[in-house]
Amino acid sequence: MGDDGWGRHESLPETASSGGSADRGGRDPIVDAWPDDDDDHAERGLRPRRLDEFVGQPELKERLNIVLGAARQRGQAADHLLFAGPPGLGKTTLAGIISNELDVGLHVTSGPAVERAGDLAALLTKLTEGDVLFIDEIHRLPKAVEEVLYPAMEDYELVIIIGKGPAAQSIKIELPPFTLVGATTRTGLIAGPLRDRFGLVERLDYYDATDLQAIVRRAAGIIEVDLADDAAWEIARRSRGTPRIANRLLRRVRDFAEVRADGVIDERVADEGLARFGVDELGLDKVDRAILSALCVSFGGNAVGLSTLAISVGEQTETVEDVYEPFLIQQGLLQRTPRGRVATPAAYAHLGVVPKPSTDPPGLFG
Ligand SMILES: Nc1ncnc2c1ncn2[C@@H]1O[C@H](COP(=O)(O)OP(=O)(O)OP(=O)(O)O)[C@@H](O)[C@H]1O
Ligand SMILES: [Mg+2]
Repeated sequence: MGDDGWGRHESLPETASSGGSADRGGRDPIVDAWPDDDDDHAERGLRPRRLDEFVGQPELKERLNIVLGAARQRGQAADHLLFAGPPGLGKTTLAGIISNELDVGLHVTSGPAVERAGDLAALLTKLTEGDVLFIDEIHRLPKAVEEVLYPAMEDYELVIIIGKGPAAQSIKIELPPFTLVGATTRTGLIAGPLRDRFGLVERLDYYDATDLQAIVRRAAGIIEVDLADDAAWEIARRSRGTPRIANRLLRRVRDFAEVRADGVIDERVADEGLARFGVDELGLDKVDRAILSALCVSFGGNAVGLSTLAISVGEQTETVEDVYEPFLIQQGLLQRTPRGRVATPAAYAHLGVVPKPSTDPPGLFG
């Protein structure tokens, strides 16, 4: 248990969530939504600790408020909760908020860290009544571990099989009621039986610029920087709908302002600072632009498979699929078709490239 200002629970290791930049080829583009080491440190102080500090996602907050309120009234553990959505939108933050709001302990782990059933048993037997067990990247739990989790979630029972074959015996250990909070960037990879055992499954969506402006303002207050409203807006609208990126851009613009502009961030300073760090008008970074340029120029406007696209921009397939593609699709710059990925007319316009007639066979998509 560390005292990181969160109350009584373990500190939240940012990198437990997604592996950070370390297993992502060491690349660290400024608007990549996966956390980097700098984020690890900075985010700790910026994470909202209470539900009312959590900006945006009003419907999710309302439902969560009801679930937590009911658990408090009954004096029971809250139902198990699953949060899904792209990196950096607040899943880990919510796990911390839940334990704070319920005033219970928080135990943090992640799918890849729980290798064997015994690892999970060790975690479960450490819980005290009402505690929150947060499993990040829950879609990466091994099958054998998932099977131990089912009776634990359903009946608060730990079932351990001893021995093999006809002599095998199962031992049941009663667990205290607890709340499992799962997070995943890949809902599609969660097994049906696991998903069904959650009482509430919430999808986090990209934030609009107004919410991100509020997030940036809040962060500026915490890190004590002088930030004009229009500058906060400029950062917000270029943050790809992602609070983690908004906070990171704020830190980079602050660096720029300290060195070049007496520390005060007005709209011009924000704009110049963002441009200096390679973030363009739409909030695209060099990888986004490389993806669009590959589609529009290198592949001559033809549909391209995901892994080919990833290799051509030097990124991992997972990163392109989880981080870059959803945002480019949401911005109307990229489309998924049965034949592969294609750039939209808006992407050509953004890059200033004139579309060539496609050499793909006609009539297969679009
Ligand atoms: N709704 C919000 N209001 C204010 N700040 C937020 C909000 N959501 C996220 N943040 C900020 O963004 C940072 C990243 O959020 P968080 O680590 O919870 O994302 P995540 O969804 O768990 O990402 P990953 O999938 O990479 O684990 C937090 O440290 C916090 O400062
Ligand atoms: Mg996380």
